[in-house]
Amino acid sequence: MAQTSRTRNRARSQQWFERAQQSLVEGVNSPSRGAAVYSPGPIMLERGQGSRVWDADGNEYIDFMMSFGALIQGHAHPALVQTVSQAMASGPHFAAATSAEIEAAERFRRMVPSAEVVRFTNTGSEATMLALRLARAHTGRRKFLKFEGHYHGWYDPFLLNAHSHPPEQLGTVENPARIPDSEGIPPSTFDDVVLAPWNDVSALEQILRRQGHELAAVITEPIMANMGCILPRDGYLQRMRELTRDCGTLLILDEVVTGFRYAPGGCQEYYGVQPDISTFGKALGAGFPVGAVAGPRSILERMSWGEKMVLHYGTFNGHRLTMKVVAANLDMLSAEHAYRQLHAVGNAAIAGLKEVFRRRDVKAIVQGFGPMFQIYFTERDAIHDFRDYCKHVDTKLYSRLVHRLLDLGIYMTPSNGLHWIISTAHTDADVQTLVEAADQACSGLS
Ligand SMILES: Cc1ncc(COP(=O)(O)O)c(C=O)c1O
Repeated sequence: MAQTSRTRNRARSQQWFERAQQSLVEGVNSPSRGAAVYSPGPIMLERGQGSRVWDADGNEYIDFMMSFGALIQGHAHPALVQTVSQAMASGPHFAAATSAEIEAAERFRRMVPSAEVVRFTNTGSEATMLALRLARAHTGRRKFLKFEGHYHGWYDPFLLNAHSHPPEQLGTVENPARIPDSEGIPPSTFDDVVLAPWNDVSALEQILRRQGHELAAVITEPIMANMGCILPRDGYLQRMRELTRDCGTLLILDEVVTGFRYAPGGCQEYYGVQPDISTFGKALGAGFPVGAVAGPRSILERMSWGEKMVLHYGTFNGHRLTMKVVAANLDMLSAEHAYRQLHAVGNAAIAGLKEVFRRRDVKAIVQGFGPMFQIYFTERDAIHDFRDYCKHVDTKLYSRLVHRLLDLGIYMTPSNGLHWIISTAHTDADVQTLVEAADQACSGLS
């Protein structure tokens, strides 16, 4: 676990953390926020505005984590503050039909061409869970294929080889070790899961030739966002589309991270791939908990009431206040300059960081483009998949870098598996500050 000198005063964070451990497991509500990542303990954040956050001791940071990408408009955007207070004043939720959910869905469909219809959920995990159920019902098949190193939320069947592991535990590409990510899952759950390496066309061709006819779905992240930021090789997603179509297997594109981030229509627009079903979350709600499943009527209407329906219930589905936020958020993201700005600011940050590493002779690459990227300490020119990540990335050195950056006023998770996020609130000046901090943090880093 990385230790840090912690030059900033974090006495209040420390006090809160001690208190937190009396009531919360590990003092947090998700292990990725606790001491396992933020050793010796988490920084308690108390306030956010624009691109900035402040901790319990009053320290200011530029936030490049942005709630794991949920805060596409930064913190406390004034238009969203107004939307939320108006929605709250008129009733946040009725669990009944509302015009708010229609307005959100109409905007969603305008931006995502594959969304003939949409169903809102409360989280990305619920969305992927529902997508798989729909795919199984639609095809009448039980099995599905997931890729090594892809995370699709915490639903049982997805929790196979989503975490990284030491290289000696991985098995071979042809015969990968099947490693559950959680206790408490019956091993038989994974009998229906076919595991494949990602970014490897010939492996996918072979598996689908053998087993394609029995697969309900192939689920993939379009950009691997849970091993940092790993881009698909040229033509890979397009070939996956052809292969799945040929064997009657549905393609589920998990855009929980990439949706509304790279383009109005997410990565499916950016890479020109038409999925059968796609899932969304994070940036959709600009900080509010929401997910979505989108696709053609022929598949999604299986949820319509009837004896043979695909069941999807939820007290908070289409939460009124959240739907108002979604509509306002999508309106802002529809502005012509929104994605141009996200890409320009992100690309400037990437270029600046690359230049720092070059000048300081640090063996690190910056991978990704525009609004999302990751730094890898590696001898490699690129990281292409799960195995590259497990074998060739020095995640401990990355953690040390981020702990230094935290001391220099840059907020980011020290976990190398996540990624740097640019929101519409970030400016060129924020990028400049990041690059200067990175330069300082690299001094003597080893
Ligand atoms: C690609 C992907 N799918 C699904 C999920 C699950 O989303 P949530 O955390 O909102 O349940 C995540 C979360 O990080 C994700 O990265």
